[in-house]
Amino acid sequence: MKNIAKTCFVTAVLFALVGMGWGIQMSATHDHTLSPAHGHLNLLGFVAMAVYGSYYAVSPEAGQSRLAQFHYALAVLSVIVLVPGIVLAITGSGETLAKVGSVFSVLSMVLFGLVVLKFRLGGQESTAT
Ligand code: HEM
Repeated sequence: MKNIAKTCFVTAVLFALVGMGWGIQMSATHDHTLSPAHGHLNLLGFVAMAVYGSYYAVSPEAGQSRLAQFHYALAVLSVIVLVPGIVLAITGSGETLAKVGSVFSVLSMVLFGLVVLKFRLGGQESTAT
């Protein structure tokens, strides 16, 4: 992935557009039943993804690492699994997908933590213990 910061921002915009469209649909129909799923899509898909993009923009060496690619992939996967999982849970169709998505979300945040610990802000791999 050549520019992971830009990829994160583009992904964030796409999730936001879907999330906002969903919000408008909820407002128009006065049916807020699925608002927790909408909230998670916007917060994990847009806000968190934009935070990741900002971090990788100021730490380009971190962004070039394989760990960052795994982190990005898992962060996207967690949104794609968790949000429909919340919809299924709310509508009484089972909680398995929501549970799997939750685990993916936690793991993606752990990966982000590892990236942050491994690289200094601004660049070089950390040599500090
Ligand atoms: C076009 C833009 C948006 C519209 C029309 C919209 C609409 C809505 C509506 C109708 C609700 C349900 C409110 C309720 O039942 O009390 C809601 C809840 C929520 N929205 Fe949005 N929203 C938009 C964008 C966003 C964005 C950008 C975020 C986050 C960055 C966000 C986060 C949330 C959260 C956290 C909730 C509460 C979920 C819950 O309590 O279960 N929304 N939104």
